[in-house]
Amino acid sequence: MSSEFIPFHKPAIGEEEIRSVVETLRSGWLTTGPKVKTFEAEFARYTGSAHAVAVNSATAALHLALEAVGIKSGDEVIVPTMTFTATAEVVLYLGARPVLVDCRTDDLNIDVDRIEAAISNNTKAIIPVHIAGRPCAMDQILSIAQRHGLRVIEDAAHALPASHLGRKVGAIGDITCFSFYATKTITTGEGGMATTDNPEWSERMRMMSLHGISHDAWDRYTEQGSWYYEVVRPGFKYNMTDIAAALGIEQLKRCDDFYQARLRIAQRYDEAFADLPEIESPAGSSGMQHAWHLYIIQLNLDRINIDRRDFIKALNSRRIGTSVHFIPLHLHPFYKQTYGYRASDFPQASTAFERIVSLPIYPIMTEQDVSYVIGAVRDLVQEYRR
Ligand SMILES: Cc1ncc(COP(=O)(O)O)c(C=O)c1O
Repeated sequence: MSSEFIPFHKPAIGEEEIRSVVETLRSGWLTTGPKVKTFEAEFARYTGSAHAVAVNSATAALHLALEAVGIKSGDEVIVPTMTFTATAEVVLYLGARPVLVDCRTDDLNIDVDRIEAAISNNTKAIIPVHIAGRPCAMDQILSIAQRHGLRVIEDAAHALPASHLGRKVGAIGDITCFSFYATKTITTGEGGMATTDNPEWSERMRMMSLHGISHDAWDRYTEQGSWYYEVVRPGFKYNMTDIAAALGIEQLKRCDDFYQARLRIAQRYDEAFADLPEIESPAGSSGMQHAWHLYIIQLNLDRINIDRRDFIKALNSRRIGTSVHFIPLHLHPFYKQTYGYRASDFPQASTAFERIVSLPIYPIMTEQDVSYVIGAVRDLVQEYRR
C-alpha cells in the first residue's frame, strides 16, 4: 500500500511560475497591468478567438458574458442540471431564471435532445457546460440556438484545451468562459477568462469587469491627468491582478504538456478498467479533443455490493482522494424549494449522481500513483463484485 496520500488534485507549479510571480511582486505593479494584457493576448492566440478578457473567476466571466449579451430580469436561460452551482447562479444575479435540462447518461453533458422542450418565448440563451473537458455537441447546440435566436455562452471551466469537430473551445459559441481555479487544467490560484470574436461584447465585459468605467474616457482625457474617469454603468469588481496573470502566462506555456500528461493517465485508466463490467469508463472522444480535466467513472450498481459513498470511503481509506462532479442542481435545496424540481424530473442526472466518482488525474501524478489508483479500484471491484 502507498504510504503517501494521493490527493484528488495537486497543481503543477514550477520554478518559472515562481520566478514570474516574484518578478511581478518586485516590479511595483501588482494589479491589472502589463501582465494581464500579455496573458489576454496569449490566451486569445491559443484559443483562436479574437478577444480575451481576464477576470478573477469563471463565475465572474459567466456573469459578465450574460450581462454583455443582454440577459435581464424575466429572461430564461437553459442550464444543464449536471453542473457546478456557478453556471446557474449567474443567471439569477441578473434576475433571470435558469431552466434546467437533464444530462446524457454517457458523458454527462447536456442532453441536446431535451433542450428544445425547455425553450419558451422568454428563453434568451443556452449555457452548455463541457463536463470533465469533453466538448458538448456544439454543432447541434449552435443549430438549435440559431433556430430559436438564442445566444450560446459556453461554460468551459473544464475545457482547456479542447476542440470539437476541428474548432477549438474558445472560438465556437458567442462567448466562452474558462476557469483558472486551483484545481483546473491551468491555474492562477483564482481566475477566469472570457473569449469572444465580438468586439462590442469584449469591450462591454472589460468595462463591466472594472466598475463600468469607460476606457474611451480614460484614453480621451489622459492629457488631463490620470485621475479622470467616467462611470457609464454600475459595473463589478472582477479584474484579474498582474500577480495572477504572471502565473497564468507561465501555466499557459505548459498547457499542451499538461494536456499530454492527463491524456496518458486517461488512456491508462481506460485500458486498466476495460475488462471490468462493474465500472463504466468515460465516453470515447472521437471527433473531439477531450481536455481530461476530470476522469469520471460510473459504478454499475447492479453488479457490485457497494454504493458510491462507501466506494469513495474505501478509496479514501486506501489513501486516495476522489470527488463527485456534480451533485445535480435540481437536488439542492435552493432549486427544489424555488422551482419545485424533483429527482424524477431529471432521471438521467439523478441516476448518474448515485454512480459517479472522479478519480485523480493531473500532470504531476507519477506512474506509480496511477498504478496504485488502478490497483485500488480493481481490488475494490473484485472484493464487492456480485
Ligand atoms: C462547471 C463549472 N463552472 C464554473 C465554475 C466556476 O469556476 P470559478 O471557481 O473559476 O468561478 C466551476 C468551478 O469549479 C465549474 O466546475
